[in-house]
Amino acid sequence: MQTLGSFMIYTRIVGSGSFLPTTVVSNNSLAKDLLSRGIHTSDDWIVQRTGIKQRYLAKDDINTSYMAVESAKMALTDSGINASDIDLIIVATSTPDCIFPSTACIVQSKLNANRAAAFDLQAACSGFVYALSTAESFICSKKAKNVLIIGSEKFSRILDWNDRSTCVLFGDGAGAFVLTASYDCGILSSCISSDGSISDILSVSGHFEKGEIKGSPFVKMDGQSVFKNAVKVLEESARAVCNKACVDISNVNWFIPHQANIRIIKMLGRRLNVSDDKFIITVDKHANTSAASIPLAFNVARLDGRIKNGDLVLIQGVGGGFTWGSSLVRI
Ligand code: UT7
Repeated sequence: MQTLGSFMIYTRIVGSGSFLPTTVVSNNSLAKDLLSRGIHTSDDWIVQRTGIKQRYLAKDDINTSYMAVESAKMALTDSGINASDIDLIIVATSTPDCIFPSTACIVQSKLNANRAAAFDLQAACSGFVYALSTAESFICSKKAKNVLIIGSEKFSRILDWNDRSTCVLFGDGAGAFVLTASYDCGILSSCISSDGSISDILSVSGHFEKGEIKGSPFVKMDGQSVFKNAVKVLEESARAVCNKACVDISNVNWFIPHQANIRIIKMLGRRLNVSDDKFIITVDKHANTSAASIPLAFNVARLDGRIKNGDLVLIQGVGGGFTWGSSLVRI
């Protein structure tokens, strides 16, 4: 939100969209597949420790830009805004099609969004809240009127399918928002934060050097450290954005935290004194889709009628970097 003269300029969500690959893999089916390679896990362990029951996995011919474009088309249709009227495209992803061109430029071309500037944003699982906050800055400073933000991940590409402590946790998918400048309502307050000093608790260290991959091409995670830090920063940033907007947490209608683990979400609810039924939960069906998890969850609740115009929604991301952020939005 920004005051210009006597007018408040808000960043309003006017369209949302999502895309999930067609292949659904249940815990049982994944456990069977892993067992055939000597790796033991079970539906019971995965459900009890994470709340995940299944995940969607993209086949070889589906990449991050494809999923991004499909979710963007749905969001554009929902918004009624033409691709040619989009000023800026931001794709939040840790699994870009290639190093460059950016996935955002590929999306721009496929959508014929000819006027748009386009770039990727890398903040791991916090990417979508970082994109939302960045888009808000462009809109409130009048550098852009219509912005398309997308979280898209083919996370299965960077999973070590021999590491049961990570490979059961993630899935693929994409989600998108169309945002526009509004005098009525939209983002009331937002914050993004980082702590690079604990970057080693969640990383993919691999990179190219002289034609070779150096470091690991796979996700490495100290699950318990990530868990503890996630609960702490999600609570702090929820309180910070609500205080900034002078909104009591009890007046927030819906909470959409990053969907990584149901136990993180339940612990957050207890700390904020918010009942479970105010949380939008998709981790059971989608697993952790990194930067895509928030718009995927938002779109589920928008389509099934839970999130309505006028509702106050708290959107929260957390992940590698270490990064986190929150936005309090009047829909
Ligand atoms: O998107 C970024 C944000 N990411 C997150 O928020 C993830 C945060 N962390 C977590 O969600 C949890 O820490 C995990 C779900 C990753 C792990 O849960 P945990 O309760 O912290 O389990 P743990 O790592 O302490 O492991 C407990 C046991 C270990 O066995 P021992 O040493 O007790 O014998 C693991 O080897 O569970 C074992 N284990 C498994 N067993 C069956 C680890 N992975 C599996 C598995 N199946 N897939």
